[in-house]
Amino acid sequence: MFDFLKRKKTIPIFESVKTDIHCHLLPGVDDGAKDVSETIFCLQTLREAGFSKVCFTPHFQSKYPNDEEDIKQRFDRLKKEIEAQHAEGLPEIGAISGEYRFDHIYHRRPGVDKVTPLPGNTLLCEFSLHDNKYMPIDILREFHNLGYRLILAHPERYPYLGIHSNEVEEMQEMGMGFQVNILSLNGFYGQIAMKKGFEYINNGIAKYLGTDMHKRRYAQELVATTNNKDVQRLIKKHQFLNNEF
Ligand SMILES: [Fe+2]
Repeated sequence: MFDFLKRKKTIPIFESVKTDIHCHLLPGVDDGAKDVSETIFCLQTLREAGFSKVCFTPHFQSKYPNDEEDIKQRFDRLKKEIEAQHAEGLPEIGAISGEYRFDHIYHRRPGVDKVTPLPGNTLLCEFSLHDNKYMPIDILREFHNLGYRLILAHPERYPYLGIHSNEVEEMQEMGMGFQVNILSLNGFYGQIAMKKGFEYINNGIAKYLGTDMHKRRYAQELVATTNNKDVQRLIKKHQFLNNEF
């Protein structure tokens, strides 16, 4: 009873960040939102948190080997459904792209497989979260040499990747960007990821933020994150490049 009175208010602390470049809100394609109503709920929360635009990045990995054409069709259908529902308080629907996994069982082959980049020929990529130290930087370099700009998703979440490691240095030399998950900053993925998330931003390595929003409970965590004073200070103190998208 009176649960709504206890509900935390969402503070629009990400207004200056503008675009969320990482989410799984295409209904029914991966482990993200299961239907349009969940997508709309999450999008409304993103808007309340200050985001004015959202890019969609469904998984491309062995568990979800999505097809580029199918994803695009689903994206167009979602836009039509949102329009038909006259849902209010939503951010602008930005680009459709993907979160491309590079691990020992799956990756897109440079120059062979189709990819759907974010604007600026940008690919959001990730490594395995658990695989020990498999970071195919040579393959990323091939994409780089083909003219793609690469952004590594949630570097703070790989237990085997140190901020001051040779790998991070190599990726920086290649011109790669780094995107910290906002929910990491509130401890959603544990204390170590939280600490590393702050460090990546404070050291000036991570210039991009993403929510990596999947479903309702992520939206609830985002609301809590907007109330976190340390996160509020961090966002105020730094400039991010998300508005490139
Ligand atoms: Fe993701």
